[in-house]
Amino acid sequence: MQFAHIITIAGLAAGVIAAPVNGQKATFYNASVGIGACGRQLDESDMGVALSTEMNCKAFCGMNVEINSNGNTISAPVVDCCPGCNSDHIDVTPNIFESLNIPKSEGVADVSFFLG
Ligand SMILES: *[C@@H]1O[C@H](CO)[C@@H](O)[C@H](O)[C@H]1NC(C)=O
Repeated sequence: MQFAHIITIAGLAAGVIAAPVNGQKATFYNASVGIGACGRQLDESDMGVALSTEMNCKAFCGMNVEINSNGNTISAPVVDCCPGCNSDHIDVTPNIFESLNIPKSEGVADVSFFLG
């Protein structure tokens, strides 16, 4: 009985380790379609992040966001707001997906990010 209990705990611990990083995610968008919420026209060569509107994104314009995925790290400035994102979700320019080696076909990527 006691033995079975220990196995259950070990199983739970393994499950926690295998879980995705913090549940944070990134999607990408074509920022060149208009002027970003930070007031600058962006083009497709820009590296930039749209932060959730819920996070008072405009207050963070120009601040760098560090994004990690699959052992790759990149830092890019906040250039826009993402009205459809919650605080665990950033929308980024497509070349950020490329720099992090995330296939764009993935659409939504598991990442971790923080404002630095
Ligand atoms: C992004 O938007 C611009 C402006 O509308 C357009 O010229 C360009 O082809 C778009 N890029 C992609 C990859 O859809």
